Amino acid sequence: MSKVTVVGAGNVGATVANVLAHKDFLREVVLLDIRGDFAKGKALDSWQQASIDHYSTRLTGTEDYKDTANSDIVVITAGIPRKPGMSRDDLISTNAKIVSSVASSIMEHSDPIFIVISNPLDVMTYAAHTTTGLPSNKVFGMAGILDTARYRAFLATELGVSPKDIQAVLMGGHGDTMVPLPRYTTVAGIPVTELIGEAELNAIVERTKKGGGELVKLMGTSAWYAPGAAGAQMVEAIIKDEDRIFPCCVKLEGHYGLNDVYLGVPVKLGTGGIKKIYELELNKEELGLLNTSSDHVKAVMKTYDDMKLS
Ligand code: NAI
Ligand code: 2OP
Repeated sequence: MSKVTVVGAGNVGATVANVLAHKDFLREVVLLDIRGDFAKGKALDSWQQASIDHYSTRLTGTEDYKDTANSDIVVITAGIPRKPGMSRDDLISTNAKIVSSVASSIMEHSDPIFIVISNPLDVMTYAAHTTTGLPSNKVFGMAGILDTARYRAFLATELGVSPKDIQAVLMGGHGDTMVPLPRYTTVAGIPVTELIGEAELNAIVERTKKGGGELVKLMGTSAWYAPGAAGAQMVEAIIKDEDRIFPCCVKLEGHYGLNDVYLGVPVKLGTGGIKKIYELELNKEELGLLNTSSDHVKAVMKTYDDMKLS
């Protein structure tokens, strides 16, 4: 039985903690936030749900990093979300400082695996990695599971089938330059291109790229149910050593011909974090899109470097 800390008890962090508790495979989930007693309140509310929904995972809230000691996994959701009209990259000046300070405070009490969720995701993963100095298989980001989940939801609606039967992979940065790969999408084993016309599929790909923004427009802030569930799914794969294959944001070191950049690619998740990075045989067009995405993320990484936080 393991201990997981979730930093940031806002919309996404509280959802990660609550979904984890419902899965009932952890001994303890600690929610940490700087907002006074807010994390304590969120954790207590989730704990009071335990007898109704039948789980034993103990939830506690805190402002004190000592309570995070000996965490096996830390999920970072601390930081501001975007408002309508903002891009994820607009968050960097605030969130880079938060993510770097969170990562170094955690390292004083644990030697964990980090799953980063704060935006801009790819660069905040870079920030956590440079701050902690941990091996890159132990510091990675959540975005691809969410982006593919959106793509699968849109396809399920269009095709009138269950999202459960849709398998997909998506690469690149968590932003408008993400690279959905319809060539690798199947519906119960059937290539999606046999079930949907090119124009309809392209429209779904475009909607997926702007999927986060669609929700920001609808709600005035960014999403949390699907992002929270995606973070919890990654925790589960690691703690249960499931060897699940998910698109995650990782440091690329020669993969796809790219170096020193944090991008979403398919990986195997289990004990210890990332066990393997898969290199698909991308065609010229797909590789071109991945390179464009990489250039975009590298430019934002440079903004982070110029902040000289680590
Ligand atoms: P929120 O505003 O509801 O919660 C953020 C929490 O972080 C707040 O409770 C705040 O008090 C806390 N916080 C701020 N500074 C802190 C610090 N130094 N230490 C500890 N806690 C601190 O925001 P929400 O909606 O939960 O989003 C969190 C982040 O996740 C945002 O940056 C958002 O853009 C990102 N996000 C990323 C997604 C992804 O796919 N990677 C999906 C959805 C959101
Ligand atoms: C999302 O995609 C804003 O990254 C966040 O919902």
